[in-house]
Amino acid sequence: LLHLDAGANRSTESITRELTALFADAWRTAHGDTGYRHRDLVADPVPPLDTPFCALGRRVERHGPVPPDEVAALVECPAEAREWALTRPLIDELLAADTVLIGAPMYNYSVPAALKAWIDRVTFPGAFTDRRTGRNTLLRGTNVVVVTARGGFGADTDFQTPYLRAYFGRLGVTDVRFIAAERTLAGLVPRLADQRPLAERSLAAARAEVVSLPVSSRDRPTLRPVR
Ligand SMILES: Cc1cc2nc3c(=O)[nH]c(=O)nc-3n(C[C@H](O)[C@H](O)[C@H](O)COP(=O)(O)O)c2cc1C
Repeated sequence: LLHLDAGANRSTESITRELTALFADAWRTAHGDTGYRHRDLVADPVPPLDTPFCALGRRVERHGPVPPDEVAALVECPAEAREWALTRPLIDELLAADTVLIGAPMYNYSVPAALKAWIDRVTFPGAFTDRRTGRNTLLRGTNVVVVTARGGFGADTDFQTPYLRAYFGRLGVTDVRFIAAERTLAGLVPRLADQRPLAERSLAAARAEVVSLPVSSRDRPTLRPVR
C-alpha cells in the first residue's frame, strides 16, 4: 500500500487524513505492516519541476521508451542527476504498490498543489511504459483509491474526479475508486448549517467504506498487499 496525503491541514481536523488513516489501519490489520509506505506530500513536499528535469525528460523522450534503470546513463550534469534522484524513488514506490491510497481534498475545484507536484514528477517519460510494446501497461494491475472531501461548493464544477480518472486511466490504471465526504464545511460555516445532517451522513458512509474496503478485499486479487 502506497499511502499519499496531500491535504494541507495536517491537524486532527482534517477529514481526508482521518479517512486515509482509517483505511491504512484497516489495511495493515488485514495484510500486516510489510509493504506499507506512507508519504506525506505536505510535510515532505515533492519539489516543483525545473529546467534540468525537463532537459532530462526531453532527452529520454528522444531515445524512445527508456526504463528507469537506463535513465541515469542519459544524465549530463549534476543538476539533472539531482532531479533524477528526486524522481526515481517516487516512480519505484508507485511501481511497487498494488494499491495507491490518495488523500486529496478538493481545492479550488481540483487537486491540492502538493498532489499535482507528485503527479508531475512521477509521470516521467517512459516510467510506466512496457518497453516491448511501447504502451503504458505497467500499472495495469494497480488499484487506486482516492479519498476526497469537499467543503460544499463546486459540486457542479468538480474537476478533481474527472482529472484523476483521466490521469490514472492514461497511465493504464483501470481501477480508480473515489470515496468522498461531502459538505465538510457545513459544521463550520453558518450559512451551510442546514446541510449538517447531509454532511454527517456522508462522513459516516465514508468512514464505513474506508474501513471495510481493505478488509473485504483481503482475498480478492484487487487491493492485495505489495508484491
Ligand atoms: C485552499 C482551499 C480550497 C478549497 N476549495 C474548495 C472547493 O473548490 N470546493 C469545495 O467544495 N471545498 C473547497 N475547500 C474546502 C475543503 O475541500 C474542505 O474543507 C475539506 O474538508 C478539506 O479537507 P481536509 O478536511 O482533509 O483538510 C477548499 C479548502 C481550501 C483550504
